[in-house]
Amino acid sequence: MIGRPRRNRPEPSGILASTGHENGADRASGSSAPHQLPAAADRAAGARVVVRGLAKRYRLTPEVSITAADGIDLTVEPGQIVAVTGPSGSGKSTLLHLIGAIERPDAGTITVDDTEVATLTRSALARYRRSIGFVFQRYNLLPALSALDNVTTPVLSYPTDFDKKTRATQLLAQVGLAGRESSLPSRWSGGQQQRVSIARALIGHPRLILADEPTGNLDSHTGAEILQLLLGLRDTAGVTIMIATHDTAIAARADATIHITDGRVTSDG
Ligand SMILES: Nc1ncnc2c1ncn2[C@@H]1O[C@H](COP(=O)(O)OP(=O)(O)OP(=O)(O)O)[C@@H](O)[C@H]1O
Ligand SMILES: [Mg+2]
Repeated sequence: MIGRPRRNRPEPSGILASTGHENGADRASGSSAPHQLPAAADRAAGARVVVRGLAKRYRLTPEVSITAADGIDLTVEPGQIVAVTGPSGSGKSTLLHLIGAIERPDAGTITVDDTEVATLTRSALARYRRSIGFVFQRYNLLPALSALDNVTTPVLSYPTDFDKKTRATQLLAQVGLAGRESSLPSRWSGGQQQRVSIARALIGHPRLILADEPTGNLDSHTGAEILQLLLGLRDTAGVTIMIATHDTAIAARADATIHITDGRVTSDG
């Protein structure tokens, strides 16, 4: 599955291409280098995702199991924004969870750039997960934390070669929330909370964003604004984005759509 080729994408610019070195690096003392997030030079553009023969079965009882992924093949080219559509229960979330290594497959391969996700060791898996930005339908923000602290959460325990607070402040501005760093987002509108969650997804300079129904809890106008934000990420930073969605507006504006039925790709293009 390869969507329409992208042409004339602008060079990465602005905050999403920033090195974050402006105010000095933020390295946890005594931390070992292998846990370091990727260097700025390695961050350009999006990841290529290749899935082959992907299978996942959930065993409900010894006799009963559900096949949530049933031999999925797909390719997402770097910098594509791809809608994953299909009826409820068809396996959209499962596919994103497998690609994001939240779940492990029973069979098949997932290759993200040069990484064979299904065979990673435990520590490599943790590193891989940190290289991906996740966006969820219900935002999954921590209610007691400020917007800024929510955004820095994914990198809190890890050394980074950028200043975490500086980058979080920049990202909040990027998503239209400048000046709201110290407020509690739990009191905000759904659209604003989703903006915080997108800023959080971007903190580690991901090459791949996996968004599971990011507009599912939003009215159509707010959903359109969130979609615009995601399209902007693709256009300015070249990030690869996969969006599981029931929202036809997202599917219409994506570079490609993968339709899933009963754990199988039934159409793509
Ligand atoms: N952790 C789990 N344990 C057992 N069954 C699961 C689990 N996760 C998913 N399933 C089952 O796998 C199938 C696919 O679920 P999945 O959540 O991937 O569908 P979906 O397409 O995302 O649905 P929706 O549009 O409602 O979000 C469903 O039958 C679901 O009940
Ligand atoms: Mg789902």
